[in-house]
Amino acid sequence: MILDGYGKYSIIGGNRLYGELSISGAKNSAVAVIAAAMTVNGLCHIDNMPQVRDVEILLQILQQLGAEIDVIGDGDYMIDCRNIDPDAAIDQELYGQLRASYYVLGALLGRFGHARVAMPGGCDFGTRPIDYHIKGFEALGAEVDIGGGWIDANAVDGLRGTRILLDYPSVGATINIILAAIYAEGLTIIENAAMEPHIVDFANCLNAMGAEVRGAGTNSIRIYGVNELRGGSYTIVPDQIEAGTYIALVAGTGGDVIVRDVIPRHLVCITSKLSEMGVEIEDLGDAVRVRREGRPIRRANVMTGPYPGFPTDMQPQVATLLTLARGTSFVTETVWDSRFQYVDQLQRMGAKITTDARTAVIEGVGRLKAASIAATDLRSGAAMVIAGLCADGTTLLDNIWHIERGYGNIIAKLGEIGADITRVVDAPRNLIELRTHRESVA
Ligand code: UD1
Repeated sequence: MILDGYGKYSIIGGNRLYGELSISGAKNSAVAVIAAAMTVNGLCHIDNMPQVRDVEILLQILQQLGAEIDVIGDGDYMIDCRNIDPDAAIDQELYGQLRASYYVLGALLGRFGHARVAMPGGCDFGTRPIDYHIKGFEALGAEVDIGGGWIDANAVDGLRGTRILLDYPSVGATINIILAAIYAEGLTIIENAAMEPHIVDFANCLNAMGAEVRGAGTNSIRIYGVNELRGGSYTIVPDQIEAGTYIALVAGTGGDVIVRDVIPRHLVCITSKLSEMGVEIEDLGDAVRVRREGRPIRRANVMTGPYPGFPTDMQPQVATLLTLARGTSFVTETVWDSRFQYVDQLQRMGAKITTDARTAVIEGVGRLKAASIAATDLRSGAAMVIAGLCADGTTLLDNIWHIERGYGNIIAKLGEIGADITRVVDAPRNLIELRTHRESVA
């Protein structure tokens, strides 16, 4: 089983953080860009790919389909999908390990007119339907059947452009419908499209390969069907959520850190809230400086929403910060049904939080106490790293495989700014140390 032996993080809290760290390419862009490469009958040179498990798993799926993937350097890949076979057998388990595996459906359907993929996995936020994706494919002329854990899509008479109105600006549905529509006859228009930075990145990548996708970043995207994508080169944008997570981390521990290789404009939806909470944020062009020295964290209310609203993928990290604030804060989740599973873990550390279905009421307690806790999903795992680094004592954090799905080299990166995290793995009798942050920095 792939998740065995993943170990735990031992986190010593209390250090203020100083120095600089760099942000990797965006995970949620990378998975969409890899799917884009599947639609290309040529070579795709993709740079700034984050070194995270979701990317590795998706690349493995591509290889099983017959793609050739060459690693040119760190995060630098040549992907050749000229000879992929849409009917190749793929381990069902691979699809179940990440959400973005559903992009394989749109990509294969768009390029070959048929596809069969297993149901996707990903973080558990309650129900995660894919009905908008399916309705979009059907509107383009495909027949879609779901059964036995598999999804089959077939466009016997080809796909034809049409106007599709999404009931909600779903990131996944927007990307998947674009993938399916690249080669469709005529014009496809997606109304109420998602506007997240990684939609723009994905569209830019497709256009660099020869597609005609217009309007990404607005709520109305037009896709003019083309006959061929010839390939090309593309560099993935910095990860908005990785940057936001580390900015929130420094806000929590206190200190003064320059977060490099970011697009500050993508971070405004996060940094404006942190400024309101008393954190000093300075825009340095392709970096941000984050400082909190002395000043307490101020209470705030947060409501998640589609971009440019406050990202749901930053909700657990900022809720964790608010446990350290003075006063009572309200955090309302509007995107997912069930995204407060991590609250139990923070309560073990002394946080005072009550939740109903959509809102967490957080009474700031000033400091957290170390405890044995577990990541319940990717972003809440990152929030638990923040909690551990802000707590008094040594926190043992389990289920870290969730975190490593989306944060590359987290121990080394945070070690560079003074965070004390060690990876340990359970052995029958004792805890074996694999790597300390000091070794990884050296
Ligand atoms: C993507 C991100 C995820 C982020 C989320 C919201 C990737 C790989 N994942 O997930 O990190 O938390 O956007 O910003 O980019 N919905 C439906 N039917 C559908 C599709 C979605 O009802 O067919 C609903 C969902 O239940 C949810 C909302 O729409 O309430 C948003 O989902 P969506 O934007 O599609 O999220 P993902 O693309 O899965």
